[in-house]
Amino acid sequence: MPKIAIVNGPNLNLLGKREPDIYGNQSFEDYLVILQAGFPEVEITYYQSNIEGELINFLHDCMHKQQAIVLNAGAYTHTSIALADAIAAINVPVIEVHISNVLAREDFRKTSFIAAKCVGSISGLGLNGYALAVTHILDVIIGDE
Ligand code: DQA
Repeated sequence: MPKIAIVNGPNLNLLGKREPDIYGNQSFEDYLVILQAGFPEVEITYYQSNIEGELINFLHDCMHKQQAIVLNAGAYTHTSIALADAIAAINVPVIEVHISNVLAREDFRKTSFIAAKCVGSISGLGLNGYALAVTHILDVIIGDE
């Protein structure tokens, strides 16, 4: 069974309540049930933390356990060289996801320290970005193994 980890960074525990005009009305927990039902052949693990070091520890723990990672690093995307280094270190392919279109927002969101270490990035497609990332992992990343 393919194993994929979904990792959400700071403030994404508040999805559904937080700035719904930008991030929508659905909690990630509710979306996760739908996502997992859509990919019954995949073991989808979910982890969320508001703490940079905990996210890094979780990425390290994915080594030799997960075939790929879908990462929404939240605001750490725009600040964290340590997360970028963790992605480079682990030898597990990572797809960067953002719910909002970060390129259409404030200038500070246009920089991603993690993008260059990721396989690719999905931004602005709402929660569907996670499903698209899983589809790509299954079709291309795991499909090629
Ligand atoms: C986000 C975009 C980031 O700029 C922001 O800090 C977030 C969420 C997104 O999913 O659109 O927390 O990663």
